[in-house]
Amino acid sequence: MLRVLLYRFLRRNILSGKTFLLVGTLLMVIYLYGYSPDHCAVHLKVGVRRDVHQNEPSTTETTYAFSWTQCQQNMSAAHITNFTSLPGNIQNVLYYRHCRHFPMLLDNPGKCGGPDGSSEVFLLLVIKSSPKNYERREVLRKTWAKERLQNGAWIRRIFLSGTMEAGFRKERLNKLLELEHREYNDILQWDFNDTFYNLTLKQILFLQWMEKNCPHVHFLLNGDEDVFANTDNMVEYLQNLQDNNGNKHLFTGHLIYNAKPIRYARSKYFIPVQLHQSDKYPAYCGGGGFLLSGYTAKVIYNMSRSITMLPIDDVYMGMCLAKAGLRPESHMGVKTAGHPFPSSRVDAYDPCFYKDLLLVHRFLPDEMYLMWHRTHDPNLICGV
Ligand SMILES: *[C@@H]1O[C@H](CO)[C@@H](O)[C@H](O)[C@H]1NC(C)=O
Ligand SMILES: *[C@@H]1O[C@H](CO)[C@@H](O)[C@H](O)[C@H]1NC(C)=O
Ligand SMILES: *[C@@H]1O[C@H](CO)[C@@H](O)[C@H](O)[C@H]1NC(C)=O
Ligand SMILES: *[C@@H]1O[C@H](CO)[C@@H](O)[C@H](O)[C@H]1NC(C)=O
Ligand SMILES: *[C@@H]1O[C@H](CO)[C@@H](O)[C@H](O)[C@H]1NC(C)=O
Repeated sequence: MLRVLLYRFLRRNILSGKTFLLVGTLLMVIYLYGYSPDHCAVHLKVGVRRDVHQNEPSTTETTYAFSWTQCQQNMSAAHITNFTSLPGNIQNVLYYRHCRHFPMLLDNPGKCGGPDGSSEVFLLLVIKSSPKNYERREVLRKTWAKERLQNGAWIRRIFLSGTMEAGFRKERLNKLLELEHREYNDILQWDFNDTFYNLTLKQILFLQWMEKNCPHVHFLLNGDEDVFANTDNMVEYLQNLQDNNGNKHLFTGHLIYNAKPIRYARSKYFIPVQLHQSDKYPAYCGGGGFLLSGYTAKVIYNMSRSITMLPIDDVYMGMCLAKAGLRPESHMGVKTAGHPFPSSRVDAYDPCFYKDLLLVHRFLPDEMYLMWHRTHDPNLICGV
């Protein structure tokens, strides 16, 4: 189709030198790279693109002369019952929820030491991060998400990001992530609008990436950037599991069951019948943070191929588990619904409350920094 259009364009226009050059370049690019339509994406990439390797962060360079995605809007979505009475962002979901391929702007295929090396990674920290949250990423790198050998087990970290804004603002944020990536090698970025309702997409894109680049990691912590995660305790908990080194089912966190879709249009979590017909959600773990095995991550990805996207990411994980006949479990140490402090008279940030937990939602960067250090203070004394 592109060729036909170009042909028409050529026939109808008296070409100036500039247009001629442009069209020529385009044709050459198409000739050299071809185009590869899959069910929803077409992208052409030109320019320098050196992949990032762990040992040579300074050579990272990602330049796109142009690159675009064309996952077509599903026009027939507009014929769904009462479509026009739905809020704009829900209409958007209905138009684009089939799109599952987006070009990567920042990649790190060597994060786990390659597909085979990935069996060396015990715990992969997978953290959803919004491009603008530089400070959160910085503090996580210095605290619970530090890459390290913990009790003989390797911990690795990866942030998942999309894009925000448009024009020069978008470029600026992309540049920020690129600089961070050059220094830390810890960002995966795809070219999609990083919104709340696109978090499921982010999750699926990660699982896709993992299958290719880190298929043998033992365990994963999948979570938000505003949680306090005691990764030392997580390693200990995971190492103590009876005969499961990541090759069997594990999915645990703050278990939520008997939840229902919120039908109130003003809610952040609004899900109309047009998106989820049933009045029930399957059991799932709160998306603030949950632990899962490499095995379960692969099963979820496999199931996701045939389950229509629901834009609430944690519920969607639950749907994938249900389809696979697997159950999410509850871990008492995961508190995604708030701080576990007993009353307003005591210090909510007393490190003794956090020393034995796995994960708590939500912390500001300064609180995070302080808590990590306080819980690691060798002189910390806590009552029984
Ligand atoms: C487009 O939307 C219609 C109506 O919801 C649906 O039946 C169809 O499967 C969708 N097409 C794709 C490619 O997702
Ligand atoms: C569509 O809107 C009408 C009028 O508001 C309402 O009675 C009906 O239940 C709606 N149908 C669906 C499927 O939302
Ligand atoms: C998700 O990202 C795509 C690609 O940028 C965009 O077209 C779509 O509107 C986004 N969806 C939502 C619900 O924000
Ligand atoms: C991304 O999503 C936000 C929120 O829905 C919207 O305001 C913005 O226009 C979108 N940007 C693009 C480039 O689609
Ligand atoms: C993926 O799912 C299909 C059925 O949908 C099943 O036949 C296959 O065994 C699954 N593969 C894995 C690796 O789970």
